[in-house]
Amino acid sequence: MNMREFIGVGGVALTADEYGSEEHPCVVLLPGLTQTRKVWESAAKALAQAGRYVISLDLRGHGGSDSPKDCNYSLDAFMGDLVAVLAQLESRPVVVGSNFGGWIGLAALGNTSAPIATGLVLTNPPPEFQSLNNKSIAKTVSERASSEDFDQGLFAGGFDFIKLQNKLEPAAKNLKLPTLLVRGIDSQISSSDATQRFAKLIPQAEVSEIEGAGNYVAFDKGDEFSALVLEFLENHVPHQPLQYVSGSDARTLRDAMGCFVTGITVVTTLDDTKKPIGLTVNSFSSVSLDPPLVSICLGNHVGSLDAFRAEKSFGINVLHTGQQSTSNVFASKGVDRFADIDWSTWEQNVPIIEGSLASFECIKKDMIIQGDHTIFIGEVVRAKFEPHRDPLLYFSGKYRRLHFG
Ligand SMILES: Cc1cc2nc3c(=O)[nH]c(=O)nc-3n(C[C@H](O)[C@H](O)[C@H](O)COP(=O)(O)O)c2cc1C
Repeated sequence: MNMREFIGVGGVALTADEYGSEEHPCVVLLPGLTQTRKVWESAAKALAQAGRYVISLDLRGHGGSDSPKDCNYSLDAFMGDLVAVLAQLESRPVVVGSNFGGWIGLAALGNTSAPIATGLVLTNPPPEFQSLNNKSIAKTVSERASSEDFDQGLFAGGFDFIKLQNKLEPAAKNLKLPTLLVRGIDSQISSSDATQRFAKLIPQAEVSEIEGAGNYVAFDKGDEFSALVLEFLENHVPHQPLQYVSGSDARTLRDAMGCFVTGITVVTTLDDTKKPIGLTVNSFSSVSLDPPLVSICLGNHVGSLDAFRAEKSFGINVLHTGQQSTSNVFASKGVDRFADIDWSTWEQNVPIIEGSLASFECIKKDMIIQGDHTIFIGEVVRAKFEPHRDPLLYFSGKYRRLHFG
């Protein structure tokens, strides 16, 4: 997660957390009034993990964003901020807002015919404020909030909820985007009927209700809410698979290869002074059962390549979940990789890391240089394994572990 700054109306600096890769379809998360972007943390992570680029924004006068010196907390300023943020993004996002955040999104997106977003998710339709005045609404809204999270000038400036409400109906009718309206079954902000009524105003609206959730449905039932948002995104803004074609950069190919989950090994041999050497390798594969052959691919730039070329044998140690630090150490430069591990030797004298998930002792059978790597084929002469531990996995550039459902 990184921080990213945007410039809003009147030069107000708006702070956001960004999650995921900018190459992915974008989602902008807006918290409610008196909340900060931190409320979206777990949803943002879930969306990024599902392949979305997430911008989680603090509204003006909230969290890390500037408080406007002129105390401009008008609806137009909030809407203008969102439009300004969308203009500073590289792609058109789906806007997801909790309560007030969603109403800002609705007002901004329904007020323009410019294609500045690709979808909208909001929680609760705007409440029917008739019986209340601005002061009492401000009191209710700030009840659950921590006063450090927002500028106390927010309500002093006379934030106008009634004006907001008047803007939303016409905006809803004018909204030309797929829209998802989510309500917690126990919400006091809106009734089920009012939600359905409001949804009917929006040309492309879907409604979902979540059980066991109240006014803050996005956070009361965060996992269910994220799942609904993801389903909406997949239906309306499907994630375009990235593509590698001849001539594309090597990074894209590496990312494509990263979709293939592997275990992790440390392969070992001896250097010309007969000292142990080894490196982390996930390009380990079974080649043949009869004779028993395996392969590893070492980059031609790898420092220990000459030793693997020169030696007659090598060892392969498959790591378990408790050996993640071993994997890190054997991929790091400038450290004594064998300093903190127990190792021994078998018949071929190559280092065997004690307590590994499995260890293979191999006699080198062939070396084939292909492109920027050299494939080493080894005949397994001895293997020892511990079937009761879980393997350390590698997927999409990250360590993973098995998850049993
Ligand atoms: C999970 C993981 C898998 C790796 N797989 C390989 C591999 O298959 N082949 C390779 O040459 N390097 C691989 N590396 C990189 C080497 O471990 C790393 O470049 C190491 O520093 C090389 O050591 P050396 O140059 O000191 O011999 C991998 C690294 C990690 C973290």
